[in-house]
Amino acid sequence: MHSAFEVRDLSKSFGHVYAVRGVSLRVKAGEVVAVIGENGAGKSSLMSVICGRLTPTAGEIRIDDQPVHFASPSDAQRAGIAIAPQEINLAADLTVIENVMLGRQVARGGFINWRATEVEARRHIAALDPTIDPQARAGSITVAQQQLVQIARATATGARLLIFDEPTAALTEREAERLFAFIRRFRQEGGLVLYISHRLDEILALADRITVLRDGRHIADLDPQTTSKEAMIRAMAGRDVEELNLRAVIPSAATDEVVMEVRDLSRPGEFTNVSFDLHRGEILGIGGLIGAGRTETVRCLFGDTPRASGTVKLFGRDVAFAGPADAIAAGLVYLPEERRRDGLFPDLSVAENIVLPNLAKFASRLGIRWLDAFGAADRYVNAIPVKVHSSHQLISELSGGNQQKCILARWMMSKCRILMLDEPTRGIDVNAKWEIQKLLRQLARDGLSVIYISSELQEVIDVCDRVMLMHEGRVRAIVPTEGATQEKLLGLAMK
Ligand SMILES: Nc1ncnc2c1ncn2[C@@H]1O[C@H](COP(=O)(O)OP(=O)(O)OP(=O)(O)O)[C@@H](O)[C@H]1O
Ligand SMILES: [Mg+2]
Repeated sequence: MHSAFEVRDLSKSFGHVYAVRGVSLRVKAGEVVAVIGENGAGKSSLMSVICGRLTPTAGEIRIDDQPVHFASPSDAQRAGIAIAPQEINLAADLTVIENVMLGRQVARGGFINWRATEVEARRHIAALDPTIDPQARAGSITVAQQQLVQIARATATGARLLIFDEPTAALTEREAERLFAFIRRFRQEGGLVLYISHRLDEILALADRITVLRDGRHIADLDPQTTSKEAMIRAMAGRDVEELNLRAVIPSAATDEVVMEVRDLSRPGEFTNVSFDLHRGEILGIGGLIGAGRTETVRCLFGDTPRASGTVKLFGRDVAFAGPADAIAAGLVYLPEERRRDGLFPDLSVAENIVLPNLAKFASRLGIRWLDAFGAADRYVNAIPVKVHSSHQLISELSGGNQQKCILARWMMSKCRILMLDEPTRGIDVNAKWEIQKLLRQLARDGLSVIYISSELQEVIDVCDRVMLMHEGRVRAIVPTEGATQEKLLGLAMK
């Protein structure tokens, strides 16, 4: 088994667009190398080449100082390389255990000892999250659990080099801690790790070295012992970046007018007696651990699932939506945490993906005012900003984080009256995150009300006016975020 892995002068282009340009990088046994960079910097493309999903345009991959060539992912797996990719990609109709074993089967090829494989797969699932039922269908578990199952699929292959592409995007701190414990053990046993994340704290806590990519190039190596978050952000952006105090720059616009009144809303097994008011111009955060019932509550408000009891008033009128179409007609929009469900049209352009659901606004007697529509889309693309060559580029050619920004742009421009966002900045780089939060606060000043679910309490404190803390399906507290600390909020949630 190898003890050193290296890429030399690696490049990958798509047509004349270079995603990776001449990157060199080395990982030794017992080392965690973090790769950071803004959305579209080339991180996932680099990893796709390393794990045999893409063939390099130039450069070489070496294991123990010997050049290797991977024609497919199974070649890379046979060489002891496994990846937990950025996008969740499980067979929804298969069970958790089957999904994990699928990875193992490909890795080993030839003879498979099913019994031993299953035991091993169970061990890897339990190490990451003992509460996941191995017999559950992968499509029926939470997004966080799906992400963990995907990680287990990689770790169970017995690979020596493990690649994690934003493994914690959907995880809360507690779940992430379990993953870190696994990675630390793996490192201690001499494993090699390449680790991508936009969460800079965890990089500082976990990495032995940090490699920074910008526009596909290797820009710098940083030492986690001596570097700071500010230095990391500066290296990624290539310029000085000042951290905004959003609340000071854009003061709260919350009014007394209640736009949504929820009373004693319940769905057995999901949430119980949820009551709150949402005001016009207010950004209300919902904090709590995964499994607290936050997503379930919001889905029910959106008409995705029926309520068992309770009342909801929208703009003073009782409502009971038969489905999301009713909710949208009433001015309510929900952006789910699982973006795939949200309808990205892979064969359409960025601009089309943003304006299509909004076309009604640009309809006139003479047809659709396309120029206006695309102009509006362009304004959001520039404001957020989305990294594109042109807004007429296919959306499927964008990096994961940039696709996500397009979906956000779509709903921000929809001029709905209440926007419900579920983990909206997951997987989005620090700078873009601030820009999105700034836009949201500006939209709130124009009268938009926002429900903002986030597992990162600091984010809730930064962007929201008030926060509702949920735990085990119940509302534990609703408090202003002014002057709040993460510890205080966590205490309130768990009390
Ligand atoms: N199939 C493709 N066709 C054309 N361009 C592509 C394709 N895949 C990726 N790119 C481009 O390559 C660049 C790097 O993308 P990549 O997905 O590697 O970024 P990333 O660093 O992983 O970003 P993120 O943090 O958003 O996941 C981007 O500019 C992207 O638009
Ligand atoms: Mg990526």
